[in-house]
Amino acid sequence: MYAESALDRRTIDSAVQAEPPPAAMAAPQPLAGDVGVRDLRRVPIHPDYWYPLAWSKEVKRGKAHGVRFAGDPIVLVRTESGNVFALEDRCAHRQVPLHAGVVDGESIRCCYHGWTYDCTGRCIDVPYLGKERLPNGVRAYPCKEVAGLIFVFPGDPALADSKPLPAFASVADKQYKTRRLGRAVKCHYSFMHENLMDMNHQFLHRRQMGMMRARSVGRRRGEGFVEVDYTFTREGGKQPVGEALVFSKDGGENSKDVMTVRTVYPYQTLQIRSGSGTLVMDLWIAYVPLDAAQRTNRTFGMLSIRRPGLPFALDLAWPLLVWFTERIFKEDREIVEMEQAAHDKQGADWNHEVFPVIRDLRDLLRECGGRTVIPIQKI
Ligand code: FES
Ligand SMILES: [Fe+2]
Repeated sequence: MYAESALDRRTIDSAVQAEPPPAAMAAPQPLAGDVGVRDLRRVPIHPDYWYPLAWSKEVKRGKAHGVRFAGDPIVLVRTESGNVFALEDRCAHRQVPLHAGVVDGESIRCCYHGWTYDCTGRCIDVPYLGKERLPNGVRAYPCKEVAGLIFVFPGDPALADSKPLPAFASVADKQYKTRRLGRAVKCHYSFMHENLMDMNHQFLHRRQMGMMRARSVGRRRGEGFVEVDYTFTREGGKQPVGEALVFSKDGGENSKDVMTVRTVYPYQTLQIRSGSGTLVMDLWIAYVPLDAAQRTNRTFGMLSIRRPGLPFALDLAWPLLVWFTERIFKEDREIVEMEQAAHDKQGADWNHEVFPVIRDLRDLLRECGGRTVIPIQKI
């Protein structure tokens, strides 16, 4: 396993400030003293947080919907009255998935022998057994619905009330129009955090955006978060129309637009503020591991854009913005999936990071992640 030593880090950090890193680097070798540093790609996400597992509209009234969190099957049930609850998606009888069952009032009835569970997971009916002989039920997960997302707390339920749900101020604000986006991406969640936080990859998007140069103008690290501010300069090409919907007219060349990317574990936000301090773009995003090896994540994003002065102008331009952002996300998805494939081929994290912000981010993800290690045989 390769990881950076403190000495190595200092050397590289000062090199970054003084001059660009060498174009070609030898494959890193394990260094003495790095044994204790975990391979970031094998750090499981910490379960003691609220994770979005579905969009509200995916769980219809009177229906059950099967989802997964890091390999654990979970069923989301929307009852006849419209409430949502989450249970282990495995009947206590013969482990048939409960999502194949039938919603019965405020409970779910397994499709096989009809064992029935309430919102706490208690078995409340076995059609061929007396009420006094009911068996144990299934695990229930704390579950809440916010801003069109269904959040589940997969960790220790005793901690759920003490952990905050994300706030979606811009989503609720009429001054903003929000796009909900996301799909499954075949990589560990850490690649997603790195990709969004490291704006030095503008080169990847050169066909969509022309040549843009990001300049890191400040970074902060605190309890459970890392954040970085960027400004952008256009070095070539014309500003695409989709981008102009967000940035100032001159593409950032003379503007004071500042982008702040923040990982506040386990979520990420990207905000753009104009020179006057107005929040013009507000993205909230979460990456939820689907499989036990955490090699696939489902991304849930809320992209809010502030409406310009002219009413409906943003609505008219919306299809263009959707098209533009989809193209950018496609490039990002392809590259992080390539990173994951390369990692799996090499069998370890050979990352040679030179950007201090990403070093901070990697440390944060290691510190805040689950205490176990994803077994190598599952990769
Ligand atoms: S398997 Fe669910 S009731 Fe028998
Ligand atoms: Fe990108």
